[in-house]
Parts: sequence; C-alpha cells; structure tokens
Amino acid sequence: MTVTPVQPTVAPAVADLETIVSLSKRRGFIFPSSEIYGGINAVWDYGPLGVELKNNVKRAWWRAMVQEREDIVGLDAGILMHPQVWVTSGHVGSFSDPLVECATCQRRYRLDELPGAEGLSQTDQRDPDIIERTGLRCPNDGGPLSPPRRFDLMFKSHMGPVEEDAAIVYLRPETAQGSYVNFKNVQQSTRKKLPFGIAQIGKSFRNEISPGNFVFRTREFEQMEMQYFVRPEEAADIFEAWLPRRWDWYTKYGVDPTRLRFREHAADELAHYAKKAIDIEYRFPFGWKELEGIHNRGDFDLGNHARASGENLTYFDPATNESFIPFIVETAAGGDRAPFTFLIDAYREDEVRGEKRVVLRLHPELAPYKVAVLPLLKKRPEIVQLARRIRADLAQDVMAVYDDTAAIGKLYRRQDEIGTPWCVTVDVESLEDGAVTVRERDSMAQQRVPVEGVKRLVLDRLTAARGGAPS
Ligand code: GAP
Repeated sequence: MTVTPVQPTVAPAVADLETIVSLSKRRGFIFPSSEIYGGINAVWDYGPLGVELKNNVKRAWWRAMVQEREDIVGLDAGILMHPQVWVTSGHVGSFSDPLVECATCQRRYRLDELPGAEGLSQTDQRDPDIIERTGLRCPNDGGPLSPPRRFDLMFKSHMGPVEEDAAIVYLRPETAQGSYVNFKNVQQSTRKKLPFGIAQIGKSFRNEISPGNFVFRTREFEQMEMQYFVRPEEAADIFEAWLPRRWDWYTKYGVDPTRLRFREHAADELAHYAKKAIDIEYRFPFGWKELEGIHNRGDFDLGNHARASGENLTYFDPATNESFIPFIVETAAGGDRAPFTFLIDAYREDEVRGEKRVVLRLHPELAPYKVAVLPLLKKRPEIVQLARRIRADLAQDVMAVYDDTAAIGKLYRRQDEIGTPWCVTVDVESLEDGAVTVRERDSMAQQRVPVEGVKRLVLDRLTAARGGAPS
C-alpha cells in the first residue's frame, strides 16, 4: 500500500494534555504512582475506570489478533529471561539512546527530545561534535551541554541472593523475545504452518532518559506485540498487508483517521533488528508521535538465537521439502499508549441547553461501564430496589453501575464524562408499567423499554457496535 507521510487535513485536537490528565485523576482513570510519597517519576496507576478501559483495549486487540484469526496463537512468557537472550538479541550493547548533560545544572536529556533537535538524523545523534555544530543549550538554564553518549535503556537486577555479575538479569524491554525463544515450542505444540503468528500482551521496562507526556512514555509499560513467522520471499508483501490491518483496528474503535498517519523510518533510524519499519503515528496534543511500530525483522532474531543457542530453529516445509529460518513481521502496539489515544480521541465538549457537556465518545466495547442504572427518586425504596435488581442482572454479562448520588441531570453528565454508552432510568411509572427509559450517550435519545428487554437491547447494541450479528 502507499504510505502517506502527511494527511492533508487534520481534525483539530479537541483536548489538551492537562484536560485529559485532570479528567483521568478526577474520575479515576489514572493516578500518579505512590502519590502520598510525592509520586515517582513517570509511573502511573490505573484507577477503577482506567483498569476497565485498559482491559477492554487489550481484549479488543486480542480479539482482532488471536480470537478471530486461525493463524495466530497467544503466549504469556516471563518478564525475566535468560540473560543471554538479550546479548543475542543485540539489546545488550545496542539498545541505547543519546544522552547529553548540562555542565551547570547537571540535568540530563535525551538529545533528540531537546527543543531545536527535532530534525536531527540518527547519524547526527551519534556525532560527538553535534552540540558544537548545532549550538544546542540546556533548556533549563541555558548552560553548555556535553557531547552525546549512549545510555543503556535496560533495567538490570540480580537473580537470587548473590549480587554478582554472573547473576545479572534484565527486565525485558520488549515482549517479542519471549515469542522468538518459544518459536519451536509453539510451532510443534500447535502444528501451525507458515505463515503463523504468536501474540503477547505484557509489561516491558525501559530506563527512558526523558519519560513524560503522561502515560505516553513511561519506564514501566505494557506492549501488545505480534510476531508473524513467514517465508523469507513473502516477508515484504506480508509486511505491507499488516499496515492497513493495524490502521483499521484503530479507526474501527473510533480513532479519527485524520489524526493518524504512517511514517517510514529512515535507514539510519532503523532499530538494530529491523530491515524496514513503518510507524502508525497519532497526532497527540504534543505533536505527531509513534502509536505502533510495524517491523520487518528479517531472520535477525531467529538466526541469532539459533547460532547462539545451538538449537535448530529452522522450519521444515513439507510441501517444498525445504528447511529455512523464517522471517518475522512484527506489529508492536502499546498497552498504555493505545488506551491513552482512545481516551484523547474520544474527548468532546458540546453544549446542551446552554451548559457545557463533556462526553467521552468511546466505542461501546472500550467504555469502562456499558450501562448505568439510575433511580429517578432515591427516596422510593421500590424504585431503588428495581434499579438495583436491573443492575445486578446486567452485571452478569457486562460492567454495569448503580448511582443515586445526585439528581438525574447530573447523573447523566457524570456518565457522559466517563463514556458510558447507555443509561437506564427507573421512575415512578416503571412501577406501574414495568418499563424503563434507556438513554443513548451520543444522541441523548431516549426510549421506553420493558424491564425484561433491557439486557437484550444492551447486548444487541454492543454486538452491532462490534460489527457482528446479534445472537
Ligand atoms: N518489539 C518492538 C518494539 O518494542 P518499539 O517501537 O520500541 O518496538 C513498540 O515499541 C510500542 O511499545 C510503541 O509503539 C509504544 O506503543 C510502546 N512503547 C515503547 N516504549 C514505550 C514507553 N517508554 N512508554 C510507553 N509505551 C512504550
């Protein structure tokens, strides 16, 4: 497919970062970690709504990448691996960023994140004279900066009771290697034929020099990665085929396509393992940034692991009678960056009867709660009882919440602000006619539905939103 570097029209960013950070804290999506101790830089905790959103995003990814496909299976490998894995993979030695330090305030920066360094190529970033050539200064106090040196991004620890070099282990900086070292196990136990993939979701760790922009870049984060093993001669075409598939996953779940673009890595920018890499970028409030990377890793990983371990990691193709090391096409998405993107992109402010309404237009499958059940009068025990009964019934199948802590107008606004697609209101008439009002978040349209029909309606609308047929 053709890769468009820049989209012609871009929808204006609806939310700035502070708005999202403040909504996240106020409504329980994301909190600063260890806040009572003053927080720890660039680590965040997901609150009651955040954990639902994040789990829903991971589930939607798993559905698209594993559940709905015959050719991809799942894996959950350990975060700690044999240290040789990281030597063989090239991460020990090559997984580093250029660090510069201010001579006066001693602050440290990632060179390419400095204001004025945006256009620097990777070759520039390795040039020891780059600071002198560009005249870059410390953004904090204007002090002189050191020449760049490579800073190792892997977190190290020690396995067992002895803190010696022989006991060093690394926290994995990507989930991918777990899939490579299990290639034979998975292929033999599932009897998959090429092309096939291994998908994983899990935590990764990088000692980033300059984390920031909320959960965009952190030191502990989740990845949703899929490694697709292919015949070498098919790798280029299969790589191209994954680009629109991954793009479509974001737009299916509501991301505005005018705020997405592809960006191909320049030759000197490619990661040490990559033959070709194209990022899906999103226009965050702080600029165009990587959302997901799609990589043709060639036979770099399996070839190196085969040589270093002495294991035979070739694939035997009975149809052609050939043995060869498969190439790998990787799709590498972020388990934090994707939910963050959906959150930003869903944020809207509109006006209802002269009042500002904040609404998260999250895809129903991603919304933390699918439905809220609200009593119109909390002083009438029969109404409260019926509302609680409806909630308990819905909760057998979906996340449903009961709320009676304010007047109905305010309750609706609160649910709009956290993206709940449907509100069910129980009123005095419900006690007579056995029907309730179902209100839709985006249109605010209301419809009267018999109590027994509420769950069916919610489940059918969820199925329809997912693009499947109602059961
Ligand atoms: N296995 C290939 C790989 O790790 P990557 O482009 O370095 O590729 C893949 O990372 C994805 O992981 C990124 O697109 C991003 O969504 C997420 N990611 C990487 N570093 C991150 C960080 N420090 N904080 C949050 N997410 C990160």
